[in-house]
Amino acid sequence: MTPARTRRLEERRLGPVVGLGTWNTFDADAALAGRLVGAAVEAGLCVVDTSPMYDGAEASLASALAGRRSEIDVATKIWAYSIAEGHEQLARQLDWFGRVELEQIHNLAAWREQLPWLLEEQQRGRIGRLGVTHYASSALGELAEALRTGHFQTVQVPFNPGERDCERELLPLAEELGIAVIAMRPLGAAGGLVTRSPAPRELEPFRPFGVETWAQALLKWALSDERIDLVIPATRQPERVAENAAAGRPPWFGPEERHLVEELARG
Ligand SMILES: NC(=O)c1ccc[n+]([C@@H]2O[C@H](COP(=O)([O-])OP(=O)(O)OC[C@H]3O[C@@H](n4cnc5c(N)ncnc54)[C@H](OP(=O)(O)O)[C@@H]3O)[C@@H](O)[C@H]2O)c1
Repeated sequence: MTPARTRRLEERRLGPVVGLGTWNTFDADAALAGRLVGAAVEAGLCVVDTSPMYDGAEASLASALAGRRSEIDVATKIWAYSIAEGHEQLARQLDWFGRVELEQIHNLAAWREQLPWLLEEQQRGRIGRLGVTHYASSALGELAEALRTGHFQTVQVPFNPGERDCERELLPLAEELGIAVIAMRPLGAAGGLVTRSPAPRELEPFRPFGVETWAQALLKWALSDERIDLVIPATRQPERVAENAAAGRPPWFGPEERHLVEELARG
């Protein structure tokens, strides 16, 4: 792993690159986290996204990073409705990770209240980038408002062939402001798109792009939009980590291949 790859979250642009999501996977299972993070490092992934909301996933990640912390950038979140609770979450994260490369305000929770002290922590260097996330289309307007403050370097939104509302205003705004975009749910909400795989012959047009599986086609569809920096698929199956990572390598799809993925995703 080159220093350039491990430093991605320090740069203005992140990708295009594949990371590892952790919702509903690690939970408090540190052994599983160890296998998944081991597979991620092996596959050259350099970012893991987590949150205090994910049932013990942060602690499991910390244990999985023992001895290989420098290989992975930690993207976690503050999910708190009071400043005191936010402080407690960051204190725990600093104990676990030493530093947080990307701190995101989860689901815009009390973002106006949390922002001032997070900016101070960023100044102190305990936080690298600051970001903001939300899973709902109805929150896109407020996400845009947060981005316009000029204080956030990343935004995380759903983006897959079945969830494209961010294309209307948020992606153009992020591009205009130079804000990196992280695609959550790249395989569909709870993996809803990946469970309905097209027949192998229908995936043939994607093979020249290094794509062998439907999951890879969906991930490459997202990363082939130049405004997307990072996709963070989650899996409980270590062998799928390398499969997903392979979608983060060029060549990228053109409009024709992206359109075909959209057609296939419609079923
Ligand atoms: N508000 C927020 O900030 C927010 C909200 C939602 C998500 N997120 C972040 O985004 C991440 C991704 O979203 P997500 O977990 O909802 O959805 P996702 O990653 O798009 O889909 C996860 C599902 O895809 C399956 N999967 C993964 N790789 C596969 C492969 N190669 N082949 C077949 N199936 C595969 C997994 O099943 P297996 O385990 O069986 O592989 C799992 O059921 C989350 O983990 C979290 O880190 C953030």
